[in-house]
Amino acid sequence: MIKRRRVAVIGAGFMGSMHAAIFANMVGCELAAIVDPNLELAGAVAAKAPGCKVYAGHEALLTAERDLDLVSICTPDNLHLAPAVAVAKAGINIFVEKPISSTVEDAQAIIAACDAAKVKLGIGYLLRFDPRYAAAKELMISGKIGEPIHIYARRNSARTEGPKRYGGKLPLALHVTVHDVDMVLWMLDGQRPVSVYAQQTNRLLGASGTQDSLAAIVRFSGGTVVNFESAWSLPAGARHMIDARMELIGTEGSFEVQCGDSGLYYASNETSREIDTQHWPVVNGRLDGDLARQLGGLLAWLDGADMPIASGRDALRSLELTLAMMQSAQSGEIVRLA
Ligand SMILES: NC(=O)c1ccc[n+]([C@@H]2O[C@H](COP(=O)([O-])OP(=O)(O)OC[C@H]3O[C@@H](n4cnc5c(N)ncnc54)[C@H](O)[C@@H]3O)[C@@H](O)[C@H]2O)c1
Repeated sequence: MIKRRRVAVIGAGFMGSMHAAIFANMVGCELAAIVDPNLELAGAVAAKAPGCKVYAGHEALLTAERDLDLVSICTPDNLHLAPAVAVAKAGINIFVEKPISSTVEDAQAIIAACDAAKVKLGIGYLLRFDPRYAAAKELMISGKIGEPIHIYARRNSARTEGPKRYGGKLPLALHVTVHDVDMVLWMLDGQRPVSVYAQQTNRLLGASGTQDSLAAIVRFSGGTVVNFESAWSLPAGARHMIDARMELIGTEGSFEVQCGDSGLYYASNETSREIDTQHWPVVNGRLDGDLARQLGGLLAWLDGADMPIASGRDALRSLELTLAMMQSAQSGEIVRLA
């Protein structure tokens, strides 16, 4: 008989409400609680899941709910630490949205708390569950690509998406580039970054505290060179919602992952836009796509299945490289990594 997993979600915002909706609809899973100091937001999420309780903070959750199997943490990046450490100390497995945190110190503290409590820690790098990136990873494992020579990883989106949603406060690299950093580190299993040079622009979004674009060149220990390009300054009318791609050239073959065209384009007399079919599309009334596959894989992983859920240490590595890019972009100097 399938064990019914009891799950709680902390943070009922953009990501947390989607996590909650996916867990609530998942076979073998019960959405037990949603936590947010904004009780109105949390209440609206809970109203869609029969029996789901609402708490204003993780302390109240952990006092009242004693038999949770997993807590998914979807608070802002700089607020992952306190709930993650408290949940680990309560002996409950944790899933933390990417990036693991906004500082290396927080990431190390989260990993240490999970190690000490012997609980599982997974991080939300959902591209690992995108069929195209996952199949590309299989090509790497099969040996058909040979030794990787060069990678180009791009992720460009409109100023009306991320910068608008987060009030322009988040660094572009930590929010956007970090997805490709995790993917590159996953593809280049066994190699470590040795040097980073980055440049960024802030002509358009600088006034609101974020960046328009970032370009970075990273050299890896096995000799592979990676060219990262991220922007969230495309105009609202840009052809693609997220113009993302990855091209890898190897000694025996190459691959190209093309996510630019979602395959669904909508136009009216007032507007025109692509509709998401990749990350979290609604398919026949239910949230689907990379996020749903990842959270389904997460529950299987808790049961012992081999799933490519990013570990805390994977996420610490992607955080360190992304912070090195930010450091290089600010100083204009090459950053050398030990
Ligand atoms: N995987 C992805 O592609 C992806 C996309 C967007 C955001 N994210 C990540 O997801 C996380 C959440 O981002 P978001 O877009 O949902 O942000 P958001 O601002 O929409 O939601 C965050 C929510 O957390 C709540 N909150 C703040 N402090 C809290 C606390 N101590 N306890 C409980 N709730 C608290 C806020 O009230 C808010 O409702 C971030 O780490 C972000 O980087 C990941």
